[in-house]
Amino acid sequence: MRADYRPIRIGLLGAGSVGSQVFKLIQNDSEELAHRVGAKLEISGVLVRSLDADRDYDIPKSFLTTDAESVILGSDIVVELIGGIQPALDYIRTALESGSDVVTANKTLLANHGPEIFELAERVGAQVYYEASVAGAIPIIRPLRESLAGDKVTRIMGIVNGTTNFILDQMESTGASFEDSLQKAQQLGYAEADPTADVGGFDAAAKAAILSSLAFHTEVHIDDVYTEGIEKITQLDIESAKEADYTVKLLAVCERVGKDSIAARVHPTLIPVSHPLASVRGAFNAVFVESEASGELMFYGAGAGGIETASAVLGDVVMASKRHLGGGSGLNESSHAKLEIMPIDDIVTRYQISLEVKDQSGVLAVIASMFADLDISVETLEQSTIDSDSDNVMLTIITHETSERSLQKLIEKLNSQDQVVDIRGQIRVEGV
Ligand code: HSE
Repeated sequence: MRADYRPIRIGLLGAGSVGSQVFKLIQNDSEELAHRVGAKLEISGVLVRSLDADRDYDIPKSFLTTDAESVILGSDIVVELIGGIQPALDYIRTALESGSDVVTANKTLLANHGPEIFELAERVGAQVYYEASVAGAIPIIRPLRESLAGDKVTRIMGIVNGTTNFILDQMESTGASFEDSLQKAQQLGYAEADPTADVGGFDAAAKAAILSSLAFHTEVHIDDVYTEGIEKITQLDIESAKEADYTVKLLAVCERVGKDSIAARVHPTLIPVSHPLASVRGAFNAVFVESEASGELMFYGAGAGGIETASAVLGDVVMASKRHLGGGSGLNESSHAKLEIMPIDDIVTRYQISLEVKDQSGVLAVIASMFADLDISVETLEQSTIDSDSDNVMLTIITHETSERSLQKLIEKLNSQDQVVDIRGQIRVEGV
């Protein structure tokens, strides 16, 4: 440790489940952290909304304040853990403008205002670290930003939302409905009282925007990410997937498409049970990265949780502290590639379509001709009975690759066909 250097002042904005654990780790491991950094880390203040709120870790009152400016201006490194857009954006701007480096876990802010934050950081010679913004404890930002900096990432498929992974896993392993599985996730504290951000895919979309921006050196905003949630997934989807040796996951898919384009999308997806992502159960997260030179890599672990996410935050605090001490420009974000972001209509993928059709002669021929007319090739077709009283049967069809545009035309045609009683599900298929 450098004996001649004053302690590095760390200002915490927020003392919720992650912030209070960051405080605890910095206090409890102070000696070891001082050796790793080369100077002591000292908490300069903790910004809270209420001085008397209950916290996961009891932070001494002398650290707490409701005065944001005193924490921001009195710190060398500002750790933003309050989430949301405002006032977090203003706090980060003030911190960067005053010469501090910033550590943040704020995916919503980065997915909406990343370019402006990175541009300001570059202008003032500061750094923004954000390992905890995607997939909690899992190191994925640093591997993409540093370890793979010399490689060319072609595709990322991530299970980056633990709540939805838990719900889908629960539906598959217990046969429970979506509603009952969501209720269980809420009882266990995975899902919020208002679960929209998780089940609607928006939390995963923010993470997809961050991962795509980083991997493809292109500004990707959350609105560029095509987003579908898991609210419409039924037991029928899960069961028909299982019968065909697939499992249903909410995936964030970020990919290069051709030479100069990329796409980012979040939607329920069938993946083969043999794919490494299929083994990610419960509320765990995993990110599967494909790169030209390194091939396939998978990063797995806890995607949420106070202490787990605090680990990622603290890694960034240590890196920022070392830079503070040793100098150097650090790594700035680069969006030099400026690749075109493809709309979902142009994306090519495979689909599983579940149709309830009349059990009459000629129906298969009619349906087959609709696929043929749109040049959509069928890979597998399974027919199953619904129940012994029904005049209808189920057809589960998996297609070869086709464009979203053709698929939507097919769905329109199927909907207008009398022998098709109901389109019971349509899910994209990846990882084959
Ligand atoms: N709500 C998220 C999840 C964790 O369920 O994974 C925070 O991003």
